[in-house]
Amino acid sequence: MTITQLPSSAQCRLWQVDLDATPAPQAVASLSEAEWERARRFVFRRDRNRFVAAHAALRETLSAQCGIPASLLEFDNGAFGKPTLVEHAQLRFNLSHSQSVALIAVCDEAEVGVDVELLRPMPDAAALAASYFTEAERHALAQLEPSARDRAFLACWTRKEACLKATGMGLSVDTRSFDVGVVPDSREVKITSADGVVRLALSSFHDVQGALCAVARVLICEEAVVVQRLPAVESETYA
Ligand SMILES: CC(C)(COP(=O)(O)OP(=O)(O)OC[C@H]1O[C@@H](n2cnc3c(N)ncnc32)[C@H](O)[C@@H]1OP(=O)(O)O)[C@@H](O)C(=O)NCCC(=O)NCCS
Repeated sequence: MTITQLPSSAQCRLWQVDLDATPAPQAVASLSEAEWERARRFVFRRDRNRFVAAHAALRETLSAQCGIPASLLEFDNGAFGKPTLVEHAQLRFNLSHSQSVALIAVCDEAEVGVDVELLRPMPDAAALAASYFTEAERHALAQLEPSARDRAFLACWTRKEACLKATGMGLSVDTRSFDVGVVPDSREVKITSADGVVRLALSSFHDVQGALCAVARVLICEEAVVVQRLPAVESETYA
């Protein structure tokens, strides 16, 4: 596994991981028994190796950030499964993987979500958009030349996922209730649900393998809807 730091985005530190490069034995040995248990459930060796590489890279990256040895890091999962660090819980992070690529985002004191999808043909894009995108997003997709639609669809998808992963609520939030757009711009997103309101800074970027990537950071949360109660973050504007 090869870990490469990317330029920061939405005030989050970012790393890209090549999951098909063999990890160092020391990095592999840092995984917990629970992670090995999950790794063993993969049917195909390649998927198992990629999972191991992603989690070894996550441990190595977080270890470098907080100074705790990689094998001693302990994780806790929130109500909807979002992992946090037990110690150094103020160091927020998120992981995403798509085939041979993983992304790790780290942020101090604010919840972060990240998503990566390799650019590929999306024959079921229209059906997925009908289920998950807002009317404005579906309309914007339909206006595009067919050759541009896969990229725009995956841009929108990764942007939604990054926002959902930042809140930690996953698909308990209606993905059709907030607009992120199909253009990879930077913007502020507001999610309103029965549990409260969350505002996020959202940015898209492309990594070196041409994957579509998005990162979202919680700016302000008006209710305890996030994985863990956030420290009081002053409202800020996002350009
Ligand atoms: C599980 C979910 C958090 C992300 O799933 P995903 O996109 O398939 O997977 P990713 O590779 O991006 O992220 C997985 C990682 O996110 C982290 N994660 C798990 N639950 C999480 C949660 N509730 N919130 C944030 N991060 C979470 C974990 O580190 C996980 O890695 P691991 O499985 O190796 O431990 C969730 O959003 C989901 O189920 N999505 C389904 C896809 C979908 O329908 N999206 C609609 C978009 S419009």
